[in-house]
Amino acid sequence: MVQFPPSFIDELNNRVQPSQIVGSRVKLKHKAGGEYLGLCPFHNEKTPSFTVSDPKGFYHCFGCGAHGNNLKFIMETEGLGFIEAVNKLADIAGMAVPKPDKETQRKYEKQLTLYDVCEEACQWFYTQLHSDSGRAAKNYLTKRGISQGAIDVFRLGFAPEDRQSLQKALLEKGFSQQQLLDTGLIIQPEDRNKKSYDRFHNRIIYPIMDYRGKVIAFGGRILGEGQPKYLNSPETDLFHKSNVLYGFDLARQAAYDAQNIIAVEGYMDVIAMYEAGIKNVVAPLGTALTQEHIQLMWKVTKEPTVCMDGDKAGKRAMLRAAHNVLPILKPGYSLKFSSLPNGEDPDDVIKNAGVTELKRIIKNAMTLSDIIWNEVLQNNKFETPEQKAAIEHRLIQLSQNIHDKTVSQYYRTFFKDKLWELQKTKNLSPEGNKSTARIATKILSTNQLHRYETMLTLAPYYHPKLLEDTDIEESYAHLNLSDSTLTEIQYAIIDMVSDEEIKNTDDLHRVIDGDILDKIKQMEKHVPIDPSIKSSSPFEIALKAWEYILSSYHSLIIDNEYNMLANDNTILSDASHERLKELKEQKDVLKKLVKTKYLSYEAALDN
Ligand code: UTP
Ligand code: MN
Repeated sequence: MVQFPPSFIDELNNRVQPSQIVGSRVKLKHKAGGEYLGLCPFHNEKTPSFTVSDPKGFYHCFGCGAHGNNLKFIMETEGLGFIEAVNKLADIAGMAVPKPDKETQRKYEKQLTLYDVCEEACQWFYTQLHSDSGRAAKNYLTKRGISQGAIDVFRLGFAPEDRQSLQKALLEKGFSQQQLLDTGLIIQPEDRNKKSYDRFHNRIIYPIMDYRGKVIAFGGRILGEGQPKYLNSPETDLFHKSNVLYGFDLARQAAYDAQNIIAVEGYMDVIAMYEAGIKNVVAPLGTALTQEHIQLMWKVTKEPTVCMDGDKAGKRAMLRAAHNVLPILKPGYSLKFSSLPNGEDPDDVIKNAGVTELKRIIKNAMTLSDIIWNEVLQNNKFETPEQKAAIEHRLIQLSQNIHDKTVSQYYRTFFKDKLWELQKTKNLSPEGNKSTARIATKILSTNQLHRYETMLTLAPYYHPKLLEDTDIEESYAHLNLSDSTLTEIQYAIIDMVSDEEIKNTDDLHRVIDGDILDKIKQMEKHVPIDPSIKSSSPFEIALKAWEYILSSYHSLIIDNEYNMLANDNTILSDASHERLKELKEQKDVLKKLVKTKYLSYEAALDN
């Protein structure tokens, strides 16, 4: 709301103490230093949790989360619009009100009436649901276990088949066509000669309210199966779906009482849970949970629970919310996450397992830090030093996404401790070692370092002649491979090539151990090998490819070590500082080397 110069609004708010404005409606008790306490006018309470602070210039209710300055207080308690409230407060403060410009005045007036359009439409849809034309819709709702009580609370309605009916009814009420268009309730075809028509028809209507309970948009569900299942109002002056949560106005009080608010995926989940007695529930409108959604939930409780469907899309939505919240985390505020059984939404859980089970699942929600930890550990291997470094690096990056310094620091510490624990248990448990070995032979990894290692190990298998070059033989023997199977292959190849007169792959095939050959085949199956080093590629090219891969491999190892040290914010010892400097130099040298090797490899390919 920028109708007036911000400096004017600031002055207006600051000229009069909040205790004076609030005090004219609420009995306040002075505590100390301009801080007051009273019974909250925004929700029912017996013990006061409503505070007013003159020094801070605002009121805040620890009960319902109501919060604001003088202007907001007048608007909310007297039901005044912004401009009216400004006038009233200016009167009290003895200030002259500058004239808002025409454009904003017009926009403001338009907004007021768009609310009225939505409210009228809501009532009309509701009436339709309870008329003859709405019988099928009403039956559908009954079949889905939705009571008349819930229909009334959520103000459900029905848009009939006839696509002129809502338009006609609202025009008769005196609203203009333009207003109907502005609320998104009707659609004007591009061809202006064609008639405009109702957006929703033959659908159950779910009115969408803002946080105060004013109708601002609608969702429409098809009866039974069909596409699209839901149709929603477009973005309008009143409705921005990135900051509206379905059911928020209704959930507010229950959320405070339960000290929790639950974000589910859909309209039906909110309603089904309400029916089952869980009333602190909201849903975004077919989008991921945005930062604005989260801030809205934080107004009523510090750790809302995200409870998305137990399918792939639901899990994705959950992870997105987890990543979205990181930058805005602040001390004490977070999200929790409940995972539902595979393929079920809260509505299904209630029907299949009962509401007690759903409550149990919600109560057992995981913390945000555990969700992030699990995601990183599940998607990456934690076997080799390089892989471990990569995981640590990723976790540090994620902690750095948190803007709040304190929270960020605690996340780092949390992850460090977890890594340390994991490292310890892996080392101690024979199971851990066994599974490490098993995974190593399975060669699931396709990560870059492993790929380089594999190509380097297999290169002399494709071109035994490579090892005639003493430099290459030396580097080959010194490859410090992270995979035990590769090490086996490496030793076998060194043995064969030094013992026999072997000039090509055919010779090698004659003498190679069957077991080793199997392992090579396994590797080839799981790791993409560059054709340039294979037997079918000319030796000259294979040689250049080998050199290029070797330099890339060295460069990657140094990069990994460098990144790990560089991202370590704990105080570095002098020795580590030295090492970091050394690594930086090596890094630059290797970068250049990789480039040179690449160019000569490319030249070989061109010839
Ligand atoms: P769901 O398909 O899970 O819907 O989509 P639901 O609310 O559980 O409904 P029922 O039980 O199948 O009747 C979750 C949410 O995604 C949005 C809606 O907000 C819906 O509530 N959505 C879904 C759409 O906007 N459009 C669609 O076509 C489908
Ligand atoms: Mn669903």
